[in-house]
Amino acid sequence: MLHRCCAAVAAAAALAAAVGAQQAPGPQGATLLGQRDAMSVGIFYYPEQWPRNQWKRDIDTIARLGFDFTHYAEFSWTFLEPEEGRFDFAWLDDAIELADRAGLRVILGTPSAAPPSWMGARYPEIYRIDEHGRRHEHGIRAEASLANPMYQALVDRVVTKLAERYGPDRRVWGWQIDNEPGTFNDYSASARDGFRRWLRDRYGDVGRMNAVWGGSFWSSRYGSLDEVLIPNAVLAAEDKLSPHALLDFARFQADTTAQFLDRQSAILKRHARPGQWVTTNYTNVTTATDPRRSKGMDFLTFTVYPVAGANVLGGNSSAIGNPTRLMEAAAYYRPITGTFGVMELQPGQVNWAPVNPQPLPGAVGMWIWHAFGAGSSMLSSYRYRHPLRGSEMYHEGIVGTDGVTLSRTGREFVETMAAMKGVARRLDPRALMPERLAARRTGLLWSHDVFWDLEIQPQTTEWKTWAHRNTVTLAVKSAGAPLDFVAEDTDFSRYPFLVAPAYQMVSEDLVAKWRRYVEGGGHLVLTCRTGQKNAQGHFHEGPWAQPILDLIGADVEGFDMLPSGVTAVVEAGGARHAWHRWADILVPRAGTETLATYADRYYAGRAAATTRRLGRGTVTMIGVSTDDGARERRLLRDGYRRAGVAIEDLPNGVFLEWRDGLYVAVNYSPAAVPLTVPPGASVLHGRTPLPPAGVLVWADPPRTR
Ligand code: GAL
Repeated sequence: MLHRCCAAVAAAAALAAAVGAQQAPGPQGATLLGQRDAMSVGIFYYPEQWPRNQWKRDIDTIARLGFDFTHYAEFSWTFLEPEEGRFDFAWLDDAIELADRAGLRVILGTPSAAPPSWMGARYPEIYRIDEHGRRHEHGIRAEASLANPMYQALVDRVVTKLAERYGPDRRVWGWQIDNEPGTFNDYSASARDGFRRWLRDRYGDVGRMNAVWGGSFWSSRYGSLDEVLIPNAVLAAEDKLSPHALLDFARFQADTTAQFLDRQSAILKRHARPGQWVTTNYTNVTTATDPRRSKGMDFLTFTVYPVAGANVLGGNSSAIGNPTRLMEAAAYYRPITGTFGVMELQPGQVNWAPVNPQPLPGAVGMWIWHAFGAGSSMLSSYRYRHPLRGSEMYHEGIVGTDGVTLSRTGREFVETMAAMKGVARRLDPRALMPERLAARRTGLLWSHDVFWDLEIQPQTTEWKTWAHRNTVTLAVKSAGAPLDFVAEDTDFSRYPFLVAPAYQMVSEDLVAKWRRYVEGGGHLVLTCRTGQKNAQGHFHEGPWAQPILDLIGADVEGFDMLPSGVTAVVEAGGARHAWHRWADILVPRAGTETLATYADRYYAGRAAATTRRLGRGTVTMIGVSTDDGARERRLLRDGYRRAGVAIEDLPNGVFLEWRDGLYVAVNYSPAAVPLTVPPGASVLHGRTPLPPAGVLVWADPPRTR
């Protein structure tokens, strides 16, 4: 199945060449990170949480188990600066020395996410205010306002002290700034003042801002930028705030987070020895902030906890984990600098989800292989020891509550590390991505502005922005296509296929860029809602979705949505699918082919999906969002075939990754899946049929430049 080589491969290769498809920006971590392994694996350890006389035992054991690095200090501000201006690094010096003697490298966290109690007692204005007007306080973490100047000054000082001491230190491999930054909204006076300054920079004067925000509506305009309040959708829940004000607030917060990170990065880099790097750990594909706005990170990492209750693929798959988490995060972060890492990987049961089940045996190992196959340069699990007290008592570690015995999942972790070291020797950094994969490379156009705008103005509570995108990513991966999330400034021609799901806000420039891409041979797929609004989030003064009509070769006559529990039908190729979330009603123009048709309602017979040729490429518009996503999946998969590109036929949740000459297949689905490895290939790990939570790794015969 995985080697459906056919005549289409030649056509696909030609097509890939035609649109200038190049080798994926492979993991460059080896150089950037000074790698000892293709994917360096480490573990969080908190010396401050354990008796001093256990540190050596623990750190030596971490090294003996095969870890390459450890991670210290991200929440330890109270130990680093126990009183304002009095710093204590002796304990950290000792812990770093123990790691070094054991052969472990050290990542240091900056402690900004966990301010000490003296700060709140002396400077209560540092705390953020939530959407209900409640001030946060000491005793939790991430409670400070990133926009507060006093907090910023105190962060600057502790980070400077750390940087001066450990920047030149060869034992310190690199830095993680803060922890899962930008997670919370902030409605404090500091945020309000910062928002006003941000608006002044963006608009210059209040008239321009009023025009963008729709200030002529409900007398909502402001007389001066000094009067502007933070739009608070929770407090204003009885009616709707300006969506443009809300969008600007989301942008402002993301910029505030980026500045907060970049400010720390600048301090660290002033003192860092050559080779020491700076990153931060975002939460999955975070939408609380926009990672692309920060420019001070050498590469990006994310945290991923796949088993936290969601049951996306049915059966027992909730114990294998949400299939989209790691897959989408890798696809999102990989293209940003070409290097990415997993800074936290769930080690076993966690404590914070609504329900915290055991991962299925095999799942933890499979996630590690998945990260490896997807090109991660480093991976750290969170955490080494199972806490005996404090907020995360029910969180498993690599070792259990006795501090020495491997947990079930910890054992799996250690065994996987060992197996991976063997297999990684077969990586060939000179290997070119096989043509049949390059021919299917797919970009998914992603913009945080578009995501926020959809969430701010969904127009139906049934609309689920993430679920809509997941349908697309799972369909693309089911074809065995390499997937990257790309931004508007990307050179689209690197991707023979480009999908822009629900790309609601489009600029004239973007539409022109899409057209050039398609005319040059690219295959563009748009889905419902695309093109409704301009880049400011306003409707066009003209026909619905005006800027994309000539591109898609169809008019959008209107759109519909139905209440929960009510469905209508869309038909394609004799199959019928229920929909209720969203339906763009399409009227194809001459030369445009209809791929799916509405079967009922007053628009029965109107098109639900269309496709057309344009120049050397094609534009497909999928206007309907079906309840199970099956039709969109089919249409997306058919798109590769129509372009003459060979694809795989993998069930949802079975992913095929390729890294430096090795193929890695992983199975998040609840059923076993048979895979056929091509003749001549060598299986390096795992077996087929691929069981649930199973892994198969193989190598094609080596091909070099
Ligand atoms: C992460 C967080 C860690 C730890 C972990 C527990 O989201 O970054 O600090 O709390 O969850 O699973």
